[in-house]
Amino acid sequence: MAELLEEQRESWGTRGGFILAAIGSAVGLGNLWGFPYKLYSYGGGAFLIPYIIALFLVGIPIMILEFSIGHYTQRAAPDAFKRGHKRFEMVGWWGIVLAFVIITYYPVILAYCFSFLWYSIVGIFTGGELPWAGEGIVGVENAKLFFNETYLGKIDGPNLGSIRWNIVWPLIITWVTMYFCIFKGVKLVGKIVWLTVPLPWLMLLILTVRGLTLEGSMQGLAYYLDPVWSELAKPITWRYAFGQVFFSLSLAYGVMITYASFLHSKSDINNNAAIISIADFATSFVAGLAVFATLGGMAYVTQLGDNPVAVEAVAETGPSLAFVAFPYALAQLPYSAWFSFVFFFALVTLGVDSAFSMTESILASIVDKTGWRRCIVLPVMTVVGFLFGMIYITQGGFNWLGTIDGFVNGTWGIAFMGLLECVVLGWLWRIKTLRRHANSRSDWRLGPWWDYSIRMVIPVVLGALFFWQLFDDIFGDGFLRTPEGEWILTNCVGLSIVALVPVIAVILSIIKGRNDIEGQEHPENNLPIGGRREGAIAFITASIIAALLVLWLTVPISDAVKQVILWLMLSGGVIVMLLSNYVLDKHHRSTSQASWLARWAGIIATMDTSAAIAIILMGLVQTEEAEVTTAPIRDTLSGVSYIILAVVFLIIIGGLGWCFYRALAAAKDTGIQHPDEIGDESA
Ligand code: PHE
Repeated sequence: MAELLEEQRESWGTRGGFILAAIGSAVGLGNLWGFPYKLYSYGGGAFLIPYIIALFLVGIPIMILEFSIGHYTQRAAPDAFKRGHKRFEMVGWWGIVLAFVIITYYPVILAYCFSFLWYSIVGIFTGGELPWAGEGIVGVENAKLFFNETYLGKIDGPNLGSIRWNIVWPLIITWVTMYFCIFKGVKLVGKIVWLTVPLPWLMLLILTVRGLTLEGSMQGLAYYLDPVWSELAKPITWRYAFGQVFFSLSLAYGVMITYASFLHSKSDINNNAAIISIADFATSFVAGLAVFATLGGMAYVTQLGDNPVAVEAVAETGPSLAFVAFPYALAQLPYSAWFSFVFFFALVTLGVDSAFSMTESILASIVDKTGWRRCIVLPVMTVVGFLFGMIYITQGGFNWLGTIDGFVNGTWGIAFMGLLECVVLGWLWRIKTLRRHANSRSDWRLGPWWDYSIRMVIPVVLGALFFWQLFDDIFGDGFLRTPEGEWILTNCVGLSIVALVPVIAVILSIIKGRNDIEGQEHPENNLPIGGRREGAIAFITASIIAALLVLWLTVPISDAVKQVILWLMLSGGVIVMLLSNYVLDKHHRSTSQASWLARWAGIIATMDTSAAIAIILMGLVQTEEAEVTTAPIRDTLSGVSYIILAVVFLIIIGGLGWCFYRALAAAKDTGIQHPDEIGDESA
């Protein structure tokens, strides 16, 4: 069967084509405005610690996971999950439906970029003046007014207002561009990315060199890199770091699964994942250097008061950095229209391949399920996506865009999906099969640590972040209602959307597809079952702990008793989790499979553990908020920042160097098979 699928499925032309396409998907708008802005807001150089931990602890292992399941099944996300068990199909659709929500607004941001690109071109031809230009601090107001009023025609509140016709054209251009990039299939995508990946890198390089050579750039870099260590004590910093890693690496939406499903059977998995992830980080980091060096240069020219970078003064939210702060900064400096062109050109080329990777993944999922033809599904999707996009190009659309992005990319969307993916594949599938599959064709091999991190470490970390946000939202006020008791419409709709996504996913997975023939399921599901007794014990214990946790949260008891129970539950959760893991390791063999009770016990225990950790974190943050942290005045780059800079470059250059070395070494060895691995795979 596998060979049959392989023959029919198209594939990337070359290894480079695949790597670049995956980098193209990963490197997007999130790198150029998301990363620098978050780094600056959450501790400067200190933010790099949670970010790098998240990258190596969660990012790379999950990317390997997504690559291996896509490659192993040769199917887009829903069908790939279904190969494990027919009920898992909804997990795949869940991610795909989330991707659909994103694809309704991501192109809208790209449309802004197209517009600003156009203004820059016009600027170049009309003597170098940008429409938002203005001298000194007045220019900040100009840039704000231009984006908010002239361009967006923004109105406050939840009302949509009328459609902004000036954004309709750029939105059409965006969708048409995306259409032409993918209408021929991934072979063409594999060629297009040879343009859309190196070009923005070149642009970023130009911006960085120019930024760093400006007078005052060091001041900007100090704001970017000087660490504020106290931010590390706030769990929110960690939450943002993990969220940013997921979004930036395009994980959890089924994109990487789909891309890997088009890989040739002999392709490397592990090394590719590492290369792509590190390249994505490198791009984010360099983008930050470019942005902040330029902001520093601007501050020097305009002598802005006590916050020379003035990001806060200019940009309230992520997109404003790209459409207000940076355009303003450029307008203060010589050759503004040219560099504005370079910046928006970089954004457009960065964003387009991320956007079409999502379209491609939705498209491939539909085609895999229904067998309908691409040439019909794609135009329909393009029109539907465009029509949904119209909601966001109304006067009130920008507010909605921000809120919905917050939900989909926040804890409710992305973190939960990542968690679900790991839990399902780690506890309910045989993760070892995937590891063997990946190892048998990769430049370097994963050890058993990978199984444990997918099964336990990552779910506990993501689960803790998820529960912590959940408790915050439920118990804190001002989430769905204002303190005055009024409903906050945007949040209600956002929450409804993320709640509706799994419902739609279930419906989609129930609909009969063309591949629903008997015997499609994984053969391992028919093996005799072992470990029932231990499984039952673990299951009951895990359930009791879960019930206790609910009681803990709802029933009032004295604080001291509460603390003791909490730590008891935490240790109980960890013990049950390890026990279930032991049962799985012992019984997942070629002749048997572990009892489902043990597998579910493992899942409940990981959730128990993470919920307990979340409660502890919540307690920490409450005590934290009492002390106000003021940012130190930072004029020049401190010694620590130089060390941070050196360490980051070492990680990037060392990491990529090591990956390429392994690739070269493996290329020399091709033809030599690993007999133990081949034997293992059938086991
Ligand atoms: N990784 C892309 C970015 O940084 C966004 C993206 C998310 C693309 C999910 C595909 C899937 O902008």
